[in-house]
Amino acid sequence: MKKIVIQGLGYVGLAMMTFCAGAKKGNKYLYDVIGIEKNSYKGRKILKKINSKNNPRIVDDINFLKFYSKLIKDKRIKATTDINEYSDADAIFVCSNCDYNFVKNQAKLKDFVKNIEIISKKIKDNCLIIIQTTLPPGTTDKIIEPIIKKNLEKRGIQNYYLCHSFERITPGKDYYFSMKEVQRVIGSKNKKSLKHAKRILKNVFKIRSNKIVEFDTPTESETCKIIENSYRATNIAFIEEWRKFCSKNQMDLEKILKCIRQRKTHNNIMRSGIGVGGYCLTKDPLFAKASSSQLMGEKFNFPLTIKATEVNQNMTFDIMSEIRSKFKMKIIDKKVLLIGVSYREDTNDTRYSPAETVFDFFKKLRCKLNFYDPVVGYWDYINNYSVNKKNLNNYDIYVHLVKHQLFNNINIPYKKNSIIFDLNHTLNIKKREKILKSKYYESYFIGSKNK
Ligand SMILES: NC(=O)c1ccc[n+]([C@@H]2O[C@H](COP(=O)([O-])OP(=O)(O)OC[C@H]3O[C@@H](n4cnc5c(N)ncnc54)[C@H](O)[C@@H]3O)[C@@H](O)[C@H]2O)c1
Repeated sequence: MKKIVIQGLGYVGLAMMTFCAGAKKGNKYLYDVIGIEKNSYKGRKILKKINSKNNPRIVDDINFLKFYSKLIKDKRIKATTDINEYSDADAIFVCSNCDYNFVKNQAKLKDFVKNIEIISKKIKDNCLIIIQTTLPPGTTDKIIEPIIKKNLEKRGIQNYYLCHSFERITPGKDYYFSMKEVQRVIGSKNKKSLKHAKRILKNVFKIRSNKIVEFDTPTESETCKIIENSYRATNIAFIEEWRKFCSKNQMDLEKILKCIRQRKTHNNIMRSGIGVGGYCLTKDPLFAKASSSQLMGEKFNFPLTIKATEVNQNMTFDIMSEIRSKFKMKIIDKKVLLIGVSYREDTNDTRYSPAETVFDFFKKLRCKLNFYDPVVGYWDYINNYSVNKKNLNNYDIYVHLVKHQLFNNINIPYKKNSIIFDLNHTLNIKKREKILKSKYYESYFIGSKNK
């Protein structure tokens, strides 16, 4: 049986390991699979969870959990910190992270390179390396490949296969299908690497060739991912610009956008929102300029993308500042409940969530805060647990931030004379009308007139 090793067991790696472990031909499993985590506090915590046979905390998708539980029963899920497991791997999926240093304005390439060093010092002849990490375009070609080559040559090994194949998984309730049913992209400089990578991806995801896009270079796959996420980030920033204008001039932006969506060519225009969060959209657009300055030796400044990222970075703070000047003393020294704190709906992923900025904002106004989010449960940012459903009725301010599906059937028992903010279109028309009609509440709805 061929052996697959997965490096990094975060959102991407855990799913990749599970899909590889579950790949079958007829009744027979196809690969011997093991995941490798970093020997760090975080890495060991992940391993403890996986090896305890409990469901990993990051998963809240029932389809994935069913798949995962069956594999646990069949003893197919294995994870370790032992880097010797790379030695006899036939294929390695690199799912470790490449982060961005927001202070130095640089991609943290050195850290990522270390992950590749570890692999290339261990692997055997003819190993296939598929890099799934989102990277500044050019990284695989200009840095990764030379390192692999150098380290293999030192050990007298000549053959290896290398490609970049980015990931599109979405944390949350679509975790399983956002991985299984999507088009795959492979960027590789040589036909053999491409052939091997295609075979594995076809086996693992049971996809046909027409669902695989091939590029002649890893850089094109890397670029594809960065454009995809920069496009989304830029669209969000564009709407934020108009939100500010409409808010200042008391116009109903959402009504205007609804009208624009009637044009077929414009039907996916974004709506306003509280901010951009998550691990990807916050950093990926910045990899464009990082590529140019750190890898290509060029001076492409990507002014539009950079400006969009800047707008997005300030968005939550700008919205909260508007609220501050509108509500003045009414929001100082109050009891505040944040409703939903993940970075998007139906996930427990809170990385770079706008809720952090909202929390800090009210904290500075000497407010006492709690949060209600049964999907998240424990929020690392404030080291605390969500308040219980029975304890929602005694707040001065309610801030709706995330539209989890499970909130649809919950009627928050707002206290009389409280203020209600809906900063992410989380309330349906009925709930919204009720608030607006009531003489007991003051309210603010993002993207609306808010007289
Ligand atoms: N999360 C998403 O929704 C998503 C979607 C598409 C693409 N991506 C990209 O995929 C990559 C991984 O994302 P993620 O969300 O899984 O990140 P993550 O931070 O959750 O997981 C990465 C894991 O790699 C581990 N790691 C780091 N160095 C290692 C090493 N030397 N050996 C073994 N393990 C190591 C870390 O401890 C961490 O647990 C990133 O490049 C990200 O941009 C993420």
